[in-house]
Amino acid sequence: MEGGSAMADSAPAEVEAASEALALLRLESAGSGEAPCSRNVLRKRRRWERVLAARRRRRPQERERSRARRPEGRGAARQRGRALAEERLLEARSAGPRLCVDLGVADRMTPKETSRLAAQIRRLYGANRRAERPFWLCLTELVPGSPIHRECLRMNDGFSGYLMETTQESYLDLFPLDAIVYLTPDSENVLEDVDPEKVYVLGGLVDESIHKNLTLQRAQGQSLQTARLPIREYMVKSMNTKNYYSETLAINQVFDVLSTYYRTQSWPDALKAGVSSGKGYVLPDGEKSVKNTSA
Ligand SMILES: C[S@@+](CC[C@H](N)C(=O)[O-])C[C@H]1O[C@@H](n2cnc3c(N)ncnc32)[C@H](O)[C@@H]1O
Repeated sequence: MEGGSAMADSAPAEVEAASEALALLRLESAGSGEAPCSRNVLRKRRRWERVLAARRRRRPQERERSRARRPEGRGAARQRGRALAEERLLEARSAGPRLCVDLGVADRMTPKETSRLAAQIRRLYGANRRAERPFWLCLTELVPGSPIHRECLRMNDGFSGYLMETTQESYLDLFPLDAIVYLTPDSENVLEDVDPEKVYVLGGLVDESIHKNLTLQRAQGQSLQTARLPIREYMVKSMNTKNYYSETLAINQVFDVLSTYYRTQSWPDALKAGVSSGKGYVLPDGEKSVKNTSA
């Protein structure tokens, strides 16, 4: 894992803590064809459990460290806002859910789609930075010099300093298979909750030239759990002249849904935040914000 971007603005103690976490996360590459109970799988599981335990232990220290860094005095409001955002992101690194954008599929896009994906990554990152309860983001299979890497650098100011991981490795090499949920609009399974101990993966794709089932087939080939957002469970089709209905969202819109759900525990609120009326779905009249209490 490169992780250089995550370290850019950090104090030495944080760099140390981060390297430790990254070292823990650098699980042995096992590829996708491992037997369910192989030694590799068990080793990955044990190391993931150690990562989770380390994250829980480190949380109060991270909070203390961030508090100590908060600036005082006049004209410091903006700096305080930035420090607070960074504090939350560092907490997410210790205890938040992981969200990977799988750039292993990015070579399926045209140059125009690649530029649009880079812009969506910027929006997703910006929304996560502003979130009250952010995710820890990771761009996987980001190959230096690839078209998507070049577009991210060209279109996103300060991309190298983004507080997130970037890695050439796959999520398969970083996390145990049973912790990973690949989100795909073509899944038969419905996402019911956002679990901080899971790793959610989004396909790094812009679908102008529609690749139906692409990520579903990829995830199934990798024996991963899949899930789709509960759009048709909570929303209804709206009358529209084009008779157009789509449950396929851009990655930043999916993120808006996940992030709002993670904060409010309400699917109607979450879907309202991420599903634009152009998709042909709306909340039914009088839909109240109902919290999911099944978590
Ligand atoms: C523009 S979509 C690409 C759709 C593409 N046909 C595919 O096979 O995934 C970009 C990514 O956002 C996520 N996504 C979009 N809509 C979703 C939905 N309704 N439920 C779950 N994930 C969704 C998926 O991870 C998807 O790969």
